[in-house]
Amino acid sequence: MEIKVERLKINFKTLEEFKKFKEYGLQELSMLEDLEANMVDNDSDSPFYGIYYGDKLVARMSLYQIDARFDRYFYPPHDYLELWKLEVLPDYQGKGFGSQLVEFAKSFGLPIKTNPRVKSREFWDKMGFASVDYDMERDLGENPLVWYPEGVKAQSHHS
Ligand code: COA
Repeated sequence: MEIKVERLKINFKTLEEFKKFKEYGLQELSMLEDLEANMVDNDSDSPFYGIYYGDKLVARMSLYQIDARFDRYFYPPHDYLELWKLEVLPDYQGKGFGSQLVEFAKSFGLPIKTNPRVKSREFWDKMGFASVDYDMERDLGENPLVWYPEGVKAQSHHS
């Protein structure tokens, strides 16, 4: 079976699949509301990417591109991807789906920032993500991890 990452469409089927993920929340509920109220078109692109195993969505992540003007992490300031809601359903963990999604995110060639969940640190180490210097004011107690493509460094080394 071919396993590939695809951009997820906003429709009732996708939103039903999302309910199986632990990090189902406000973002998904508002997508559902917008769809029901015809405020978004059926099958329009969502910020989510996922992997189907047969016809079942087994892994997903959300990617959002942040403009360089708002970058506080990278040097030189750069458009970057905020990666969140990376999650693989329990029965499908440890089979390479999580790394396949992260490699897909890296393939855009932009720096990536994520706020990892507790207990997933080893996974992010293996994916080549590093901590940024702790800055309470900037990160409000979060502990972001970043990945740098060729030619991009941490902003803190220069400020
Ligand atoms: N602890 C330690 N290593 C882990 C790990 C974990 N929780 N999850 C994955 N890894 C390692 C794998 O062993 C693998 O190493 P290898 O390349 O040397 O074989 C590498 O990271 C890639 O693993 P992969 O199969 O792509 O991971 P995945 O598809 O399971 O995705 C998560 C990783 C964390 C996104 C996924 O497991 C998930 O959503 N988990 C649920 C939430 C969570 O954080 N759980 C942590 C355990 S409680």
